[in-house]
Amino acid sequence: MKILVVGGGGREHALCWAIAASPLLTRLWCAPGNPGIAEVAECVAIGAEDIPALVAFAKAEAMDLVVVGPEAPLTLGLADACAEAGLLCFGPRAAAARLEGSKSFFKDIANAAGAPTAAHGRFTDPDAARAYLREQGAPIVVKADGLAAGKGVVVAFNLAEAEEAVAEMMEAGIHGEAGRILVIEECLIGEEISFFALCDGTHAIPLGAAQDHKRVGDGDTGPNTGGMGAYSPPPAFTPALQAQVMAECINPVLAELARRGTPFQGVLFAGLMLTAEGPKLLEFNVRFGDPECQALMLRLRSDLLPALLAAAQGGLRDFELRWEKLASLLVVMAARGYPGTPLRGTEIRGLEAAAQVPGVQIFHAGTAQDEAGRLVAHGGRVLGIGATGATLAEARAAAYAAVALVDWPEGFCRSDIAWRALPTPGE
Ligand code: AMP
Ligand code: GLY
Repeated sequence: MKILVVGGGGREHALCWAIAASPLLTRLWCAPGNPGIAEVAECVAIGAEDIPALVAFAKAEAMDLVVVGPEAPLTLGLADACAEAGLLCFGPRAAAARLEGSKSFFKDIANAAGAPTAAHGRFTDPDAARAYLREQGAPIVVKADGLAAGKGVVVAFNLAEAEEAVAEMMEAGIHGEAGRILVIEECLIGEEISFFALCDGTHAIPLGAAQDHKRVGDGDTGPNTGGMGAYSPPPAFTPALQAQVMAECINPVLAELARRGTPFQGVLFAGLMLTAEGPKLLEFNVRFGDPECQALMLRLRSDLLPALLAAAQGGLRDFELRWEKLASLLVVMAARGYPGTPLRGTEIRGLEAAAQVPGVQIFHAGTAQDEAGRLVAHGGRVLGIGATGATLAEARAAAYAAVALVDWPEGFCRSDIAWRALPTPGE
């Protein structure tokens, strides 16, 4: 089979790595890819959001499947354009991808499906929003409706912070159009879990769970990032909870989307809070999480490719995936300055030695090759240093042993990935 993966980050490196191991594969391309991906796929210089060029390339090569990594091409209609061109695509059409693009749409769908989620109000008027805040009290969460580069959510611990968020988003317009509508919701307390389900429009099967680390600093301090590390499986998310989430969240939402004529096909990423009252939905994303995908792929024992094909073709009803009875852990190495303005172009050495640590697998997220052929940082999150182990503690020890061998003075990472599951380093 000929496969095209769209994207060029750690998530896409992990997907390409998994697909490259499939006996079904004839040839694998990635657009635009990165130097790490180039070790397992042919990189094509087409941007992940250049829909016409991606479709033209996929048609010219008669791709058997286009696998979409990031949300942007999905919200721009890559899956729709593939369907029109007669190409099979893994990933939802734009109408279903709205689940990630609009928080109020997500809330409508979750409520219509009866899926548990925080109580909320939707506002287009700042005075009405302020009145609701005073009525509800703090802590409370203020969210810009649209996509705001991960910065559209304020968890306010007092009313003043919440009112400031309303003023900034609605009156000062710091997120532009995305903040014209606000969702204000109940603050949920508990363990946060990323859960993934593979969907074919009608059926869904669990694709595993991971815990991300969103804050830049140890102990979950400092500003939010795209994710500084992940581990899988998270012990707090028991098989019973997974079954409950499939029954209460995933299946009803899938049915509601199908009922509306916008069936969801691809991977549904449920951001969950495990509250005292049970798991509740924080949000949905319409793609794999990054770095969660890297941690998940390290544990997947089944061939990924037939699973992606079954999702794209409506064949998941009796599909089963097998997982290694192992733990995996992924440490993100970022360029100094991230999540603000990361330092670019600094040289990274020592990856060969780091990759020799038993159980370790390195994924590239934001690297490039400079004119002299040196590997350099080219983005905020630059490397994913992953490892598997018989236990989470073993996986953590291996990942950090590899991190120590990476010779990159301008890079940094969190030193406490999996701290909620393994409170004491070296435990
Ligand atoms: P989001 O952009 O929706 O992923 O939200 C960013 C982060 O805000 C989430 O990862 C949660 O940690 C936090 N968050 C969002 N909604 C809530 C909520 N209702 N209660 C508590 N924390 C929340
Ligand atoms: N790591 C969280 C995300 O991919 O959205």
